[in-house]
Amino acid sequence: MIHSRIVGTGSHLPEKILTNFDLEKMVDTTDEWIRTRTGIERRHIAADGETTVDLAEHAARRACEAAGIKPTDVDFIAFGTTTPDLVFPNCGTLLQERLGCRGVPAFSVETACAGFMYALSIADKYVRCGDSKRALVVGAETLSRITDWSDRSTAILFADGAGAVVLAPSEEAGIVSTHLHSDGFYKDLLYCGSGVSKGFGEGKPLLSISMAGSEVFKVAVTTLGKAVDEALGVNGLGRGDIDWLVPHQANIRIIQAMARKLDLPLERVVITVQDHGNTSAASVPMALDVAVRDGRIKRGDLLLLEAFGGGFTWGSALIRY
Ligand code: ACO
Repeated sequence: MIHSRIVGTGSHLPEKILTNFDLEKMVDTTDEWIRTRTGIERRHIAADGETTVDLAEHAARRACEAAGIKPTDVDFIAFGTTTPDLVFPNCGTLLQERLGCRGVPAFSVETACAGFMYALSIADKYVRCGDSKRALVVGAETLSRITDWSDRSTAILFADGAGAVVLAPSEEAGIVSTHLHSDGFYKDLLYCGSGVSKGFGEGKPLLSISMAGSEVFKVAVTTLGKAVDEALGVNGLGRGDIDWLVPHQANIRIIQAMARKLDLPLERVVITVQDHGNTSAASVPMALDVAVRDGRIKRGDLLLLEAFGGGFTWGSALIRY
């Protein structure tokens, strides 16, 4: 039986940092409000002209380097993003051109903050069935481009970045299980109203993110709780069996609720929300890369990755690293 295993991770953040104190000058808010309600202290914002694929290329090259492969060795690209450079070609294909792995399958999935979980689940299946030996999975975003910087309820949350992993076949279990879900009945609680088919709306060039924050918060906590139960239950595991939780970095209070659910001390949870903000599809692979590179996550550790976002869409991955 072939499994897929993470053999390299990488991430990249744009240079520009926007602190809560910078935001105090832009909207009616305070550092104290942002920190206590969200856990965020600062976030990175792409420069003018710096795109999602630009960020992704750095993260992908770092992941390939960590995996000990050349970018041209990549034979499959699954790219999660909700802020693509273009309507088409898709970001996966644009990244493929940069990396030089011509001809291999490359595509994007657009499931908001769950984009990386969806891309990972698809790539895992390709590796396990023998169709890919070096799969690149990316989550990258420039959410700053669809953020209304005059709306204090969302401007404090969103940010830019990219994360990537390389999957390879293995005889031992690496990715133990993935579970994906969506529920479009919640489409009006969190969305970006611009679209090609629907039009850009109200004469504006691009509409920004609309979010019913406290409703999203409540559904996120309940739904992620069920996702955690599902991942543990299917694998016959108990609450104390996980070594590391690598959650979507949307809000420290949601992360704390998941840690309590798993009976994990916060020291066993990878938390980057204070430095990264909510980077949607990029948040989980960036957090994973941070904890792999600083030596917290070690080979053999059991990880639970989870994410929840617009749609709603959500998913989990149980991984023996
Ligand atoms: N600064 C100061 N006050 C503010 C700010 C701000 N930036 N934003 C809102 N407020 C005010 C509100 O106006 C409200 O004032 P009122 O009581 O006088 O009416 C008060 O603060 C409380 O507002 P709430 O929205 O109830 O605050 P809440 O505690 O719910 O926190 C937050 C808001 C941080 C957005 C939270 O609801 C949240 O994190 N939601 C989930 C986000 C999430 O997980 N999204 C999913 C992924 S994102 C994706 O898919 C792209």
